[in-house]
Amino acid sequence: MSVPVLTFFNNKGGVGKTSLVYHLAWMYADMGVSVLAADLDPQANLTSMFLEDERVENIWDGDQGTDSSANTIFQCVEPLMRVGDLQPPNLQPIESQLGESRLSLLPGDLALAGFEDILSSEWPNALGSSELYRSFRILTAFSTIMQMGAEAMGATVILADVGPNLGAINRSALIATDYVVVPLGADLFSLQGLRNLGPTLRTWRQDWQKRRVNWDKPAFALPKGDMKPIGYVVQQHSIRLSRPVKAYDKWVNRMPRVYAENLLDKTQGPYPTTPDDDENSLATVKHYRSLVPMAQEARKPIFKLKPADGAIGGHAGAAVDAQRDFLQLARTIGERSFSSLR
Ligand SMILES: Nc1ncnc2c1ncn2[C@@H]1O[C@H](COP(=O)(O)OP(=O)(O)OP(=O)(O)O)[C@@H](O)[C@H]1O
Ligand SMILES: [Mg+2]
Repeated sequence: MSVPVLTFFNNKGGVGKTSLVYHLAWMYADMGVSVLAADLDPQANLTSMFLEDERVENIWDGDQGTDSSANTIFQCVEPLMRVGDLQPPNLQPIESQLGESRLSLLPGDLALAGFEDILSSEWPNALGSSELYRSFRILTAFSTIMQMGAEAMGATVILADVGPNLGAINRSALIATDYVVVPLGADLFSLQGLRNLGPTLRTWRQDWQKRRVNWDKPAFALPKGDMKPIGYVVQQHSIRLSRPVKAYDKWVNRMPRVYAENLLDKTQGPYPTTPDDDENSLATVKHYRSLVPMAQEARKPIFKLKPADGAIGGHAGAAVDAQRDFLQLARTIGERSFSSLR
């Protein structure tokens, strides 16, 4: 059995994908669910949230690896760009309890952008009749590497962070994905993003199925590529403060319909008129304001900030509220995905 992969995806940038993966990864670890956080975005922002620059530099320079493992997602796939096979990942432990890693990171790499071309060129080849092994090995590399990492650490779930685009790297990340969570900002661009995202996921899913059936006797396990949308998360931070509340409501209240139509193919109404009444709305994440730089500085999730980190007075209360909100979100996402499988 493969470990379920949840990917946080929207081709609109800056909607809080990386922050969500970071906070939920910590929250699941706190809940006793072992998590592999995978940074599949060539911007590597998730990696820089988890790790100090010096540690990132060592990892990128390959100082920490053993002969048979690679430190970043790019180092894992890099031999595929020559004649070699992929390498198992050398995960970075973030938190352990009683000697067992509860939270580990598969580090990202700016060099991953260099893998995009080969993913594009192998996509049509997987429909051909020769060299199928190599094509599928490349197209499913992210899946294989994440599953190897999850097995090595005994993870229950994999949370993947991806960049804001619909390119070949993300197509391979989505092939590896069982469940998709869509973070949304309250603006025209986020809603427009949904109109591209829904049809793109459908096409990727169908195109992957065609390829899977083209290989009668796969030589290794191929991911199913379900990429099932389990809901959206409304991000309050992506609204400019000067905008009136009415403008916020206008965009937010369109989300239930645009999500249902584009992600779930529900073209018949009626639709809920606000996310509060919509079962597809997983949560509304608050604007955490000055807690955000405080958490970045302390390299902690917002809900772990302590007075020593500067979280005093109202900030301390906000950190406690964040703990409650993220716990609720983690439970809701779990119920709709990996924990429903148990
Ligand atoms: N709840 C929040 N409150 C306040 N600021 C937030 C919140 N969530 C995220 N941010 C800030 O918004 C910015 C974008 O967030 P983030 O990097 O998580 O988005 P993203 O969707 O991953 O972006 P990209 O598309 O570039 O990968 C960051 O500066 C982050 O600190
Ligand atoms: Mg990001």
